[in-house]
Amino acid sequence: MVKKIILTGDRPTGKLHIGHYVGSLKNRVELQNSGEYETFIMIADIQALTDNARDPEKIRRSLIQVALDYLAVGIDPEKSTILVQSQIPALSELTEHYANLVTVSRLNRNPTVKTEIKQKKFGQSVPVGFAMYPISQAADITAFKATTVPVGDDQEPMLEQTREIVRSFNSIYKQNILVEPEGYFPPKGMGRIPGLDGNAKMSKSLGNAIYLSDDADTIKSKIMSMYTDPDHVHVEDPGKVEGNTVFTYLDIFDHDKAKVADLKAQYQHGGLGDVKIKLYLNDVMQAFLQPIRDRYNQYAKDIPSVYEILKKGSAHANEVANQTLKEVRDAIGINYFG
Ligand code: TRP
Repeated sequence: MVKKIILTGDRPTGKLHIGHYVGSLKNRVELQNSGEYETFIMIADIQALTDNARDPEKIRRSLIQVALDYLAVGIDPEKSTILVQSQIPALSELTEHYANLVTVSRLNRNPTVKTEIKQKKFGQSVPVGFAMYPISQAADITAFKATTVPVGDDQEPMLEQTREIVRSFNSIYKQNILVEPEGYFPPKGMGRIPGLDGNAKMSKSLGNAIYLSDDADTIKSKIMSMYTDPDHVHVEDPGKVEGNTVFTYLDIFDHDKAKVADLKAQYQHGGLGDVKIKLYLNDVMQAFLQPIRDRYNQYAKDIPSVYEILKKGSAHANEVANQTLKEVRDAIGINYFG
């Protein structure tokens, strides 16, 4: 049986929030704990720099932030390798070899990149590094011969690009060195959480996120400000639960499904106030986030030990990626000196 390997990662551009948790962190922790995979988790600082070259300090700060968030949600350095992209030079050389197998027009068709180019308002000034980050991401995935990539569904175009590169490489150089990865996505309807304001996307730039490291008071005041049903003016009015952010969060985070069904019925009937359901959601979210925050604070007390985890993980990752690079060079026939 072929060993199953996970590679996944995040750009370090800020703190991670509960949208990241339901979109992919939860899956990663479960897969890691299943014991069926060798797991690599990458902090993709090179990819983050593709649109932040002028602000490396932000990336440097976010690197440790993301590492703390990983450890806080239960990514366990004894079970998973946590690595830093920029510390693995083989990835850059793989990117160059793969870049020769991809056309500029194919890159420009990538829907995720297209959307990001609009969001980031590059205009005519898209950095080459940004435009080609899907190639660099293919290097990330294939360097570890990943079979399985647990990510949010917005990453599917990256996986498709990676599979195309793998197929081209294996067919041109007639060696089955590289592995085609599969995505691993959250169950339908569970992978996306709206922002506090009801916007479909939770994000830092929209200012509508609950962060994994938020303290108890911040979480409470964010929940009390949440979007509900704008037409539910008086407590006795019947309220809507569809599109009501409080109920969407309860559906995702409350294990007591009978209780949620009961609250929904009461709310629809009328007589259940927004403050009540928000206070209940607050209890649910605090119970979920407190152990995460406790672990976060524990690690945050000893930042040098977190850098040590990253250093050890990157050293192991270098061994694996260097071996793949050697095989790739052999296949291309450029290992001139043995
Ligand atoms: N593109 C991912 C993001 O936007 C980060 C990332 C970089 C990644 N390399 C990866 C994800 C490899 C999965 C596999 O957060």
